[in-house]
Amino acid sequence: MKNQTLCVLGGTGFVGRHLVTRLANRGHRIKVLTRYPQRHREIEVLPDTTLIGADVHDPTVLAEHFAGCDAVVNLVGILHEYPSQSFRTVHAELPGKVVEACRAVGVKRLLHMSALHADAAKGPSQYLFTKGEGERVVTQAQDLAVTCFKPSIIFGPDDNFYNQFANMLRFSLVLPLACPNARFAPVYVGDVAQAFEVALENDATIGQSYELCGPRVYTFKELVEDIARMLGLKRLVVGLPDSLARLQAKVLGLLPVKVFTTDNYLSLQVDSVCSCNGLEALGITPCSVESIMPTHFAGKTQRRRYDHLRRAARRD
Ligand SMILES: NC(=O)c1ccc[n+]([C@@H]2O[C@H](COP(=O)([O-])OP(=O)(O)OC[C@H]3O[C@@H](n4cnc5c(N)ncnc54)[C@H](OP(=O)(O)O)[C@@H]3O)[C@@H](O)[C@H]2O)c1
Repeated sequence: MKNQTLCVLGGTGFVGRHLVTRLANRGHRIKVLTRYPQRHREIEVLPDTTLIGADVHDPTVLAEHFAGCDAVVNLVGILHEYPSQSFRTVHAELPGKVVEACRAVGVKRLLHMSALHADAAKGPSQYLFTKGEGERVVTQAQDLAVTCFKPSIIFGPDDNFYNQFANMLRFSLVLPLACPNARFAPVYVGDVAQAFEVALENDATIGQSYELCGPRVYTFKELVEDIARMLGLKRLVVGLPDSLARLQAKVLGLLPVKVFTTDNYLSLQVDSVCSCNGLEALGITPCSVESIMPTHFAGKTQRRRYDHLRRAARRD
């Protein structure tokens, strides 16, 4: 099961970089398809890893690159829609094209990244609804050997979520927070990557969907307050009532660069908590936020920054 030839879509993103590094070091040969090869040259230093500029939405391009592969991994996903990319195109139509391209060139094995509580029947957001549609397309492909992953929010030193809130907390004494009671069970990116690796090497995972969660559940407010604590900052996190949370989502959603939209608000209406944590079934002990993130943020506290500036000014 080692030394497989794999084609990874979304291999340049946060999860993708961890997964591709892990699989390359494990001895697999990997093709990473990306829209922007010039931005991700560092991936090419990994053993037996090729970065390929490709339009992954073109079925012929997919088939061309899938040919000769033992398995395909699809990690492509977005949190915000822009005129150039819709949830439907990325989460629902692309998985359909991936399935067809696998069939066209005889690739049997497919690992698919969905999201916790993705639901093609109930949504409630377009993100979760279209993720559910994509999941349905791949799991209904009975002629393929599919494994599906449904993580809660994923954390790691280079993540978007924790680092985005860390940046907000650095620049505001008071942080107005929508949906403060929404619950998450953040899962470590290394554990998510390991789950994919285990699945690739174990046929018992074929036909399974795994929810992936960390060991502890936090409310959104607790989680943001913890980030402030890890940064050594005294900040006031104020939970917004529902009407103001909707308004905040509407107003921020109008900005050209999206940080929080009405669709994100709707996703937060469902607790991102596992009913059955697939990490255990895969033999993986989940890492806690407390074992990873304080070390990462320790180098970024105010005091450390002053120390750094003092050193830079040669004052100590
Ligand atoms: N991070 C989380 O907390 C979390 C939680 C649950 C589920 N997930 C799912 O896990 C997957 C990976 O998440 P991530 O955090 O690693 O995301 P990410 O860092 O934003 O990376 C997204 C990847 O998808 C590709 N991509 C983005 N938009 C695309 C488009 N319109 N067409 C084609 N490719 C596109 C990007 O490739 P190029 O730009 O190189 O082409 C990139 O490699 C996603 O499916 C996401 O929904 C993530």
